[in-house]
Amino acid sequence: MPIVHHRISTLRDALQPYRGLQNDGQSRSQRIALVPTMGNLHAGHLELVRIAKQRAEVVVVSIFVNPTQFGVGEDFDSYPRTLDEDIAKLATVDADYVFAPSIDEMYPVLPPPTTVLAGAITDQLCGQTRPGHFDGVGIVVAKLFNIVQPDMAIFGQKDYQQLAIIKQLVRDLSYPIEIVGAPIVRADDGLALSSRNQYLSETERQIAPILHQELQRLAHELENHTLSVQESKALLAKAHNRITEVGFVIDYLEIKTESLDAPRHTTDSFNVERKDLIILVAAWLGRARLLDNQRVTVNQPL
Ligand code: PAF
Repeated sequence: MPIVHHRISTLRDALQPYRGLQNDGQSRSQRIALVPTMGNLHAGHLELVRIAKQRAEVVVVSIFVNPTQFGVGEDFDSYPRTLDEDIAKLATVDADYVFAPSIDEMYPVLPPPTTVLAGAITDQLCGQTRPGHFDGVGIVVAKLFNIVQPDMAIFGQKDYQQLAIIKQLVRDLSYPIEIVGAPIVRADDGLALSSRNQYLSETERQIAPILHQELQRLAHELENHTLSVQESKALLAKAHNRITEVGFVIDYLEIKTESLDAPRHTTDSFNVERKDLIILVAAWLGRARLLDNQRVTVNQPL
């Protein structure tokens, strides 16, 4: 079973022996990996822990439903809290430590007067419909990095914009931490695993995989034909319509470069070299807001 800490001080004490010099002057430094989560763990989270175990000797999983990243009217109160089940699941993948702090432990003052602003990258995609969300992610991740002081941290690629923002945070605040992006884990029918999938009704759960299918179809259409900008935009619009027709309400369906710039910002729009892009979607199905993305390599202007 992982050892559970609720206090910052006891977790720090527990991790100290893994770092640097010991009392006898011998160095027995072991790598520490952090897997930050909000709990209600599913197979996708357990895969993050497996990846962490392959890369580090000590794996710490944080479980904290972070109030500062939820907006007014969002699901902070109803977000599933399942600590005992989570700890049992983490035992199956040999996680070493669980850090499950209270809100008071993490935020002596709430909202915290100190902020970590993620900047212009939040003006788009999820940041447009969830203002302040990534600033909340920024401060909690910065705090977790300071508390755990890991050598590396593992995040899922389903939350692609979050991953990009955390890489930016590490770069700009000079954290000596390697950020590892882990591939999306999917159900057999292709739906990206998410704690919020449990908000889906039975009927919605049948419809939900269409989101991934449409991303794959769009990627296939963009990859296999040489298209004008107008033709590409028309394909995007058609995918938008098909997703909407089955009952989704789309927040965004966009194509970006891997660093989340608009595609044309990185190359001349008539450059026909192949480009690695990413199609990103956020869409509501009933009470569930689903995120997904799909890489695509195109050889036409976009
Ligand atoms: O991806 C999540 O579960 C959360 O945004 C994170 C990174 C744990 C911060 O609260």
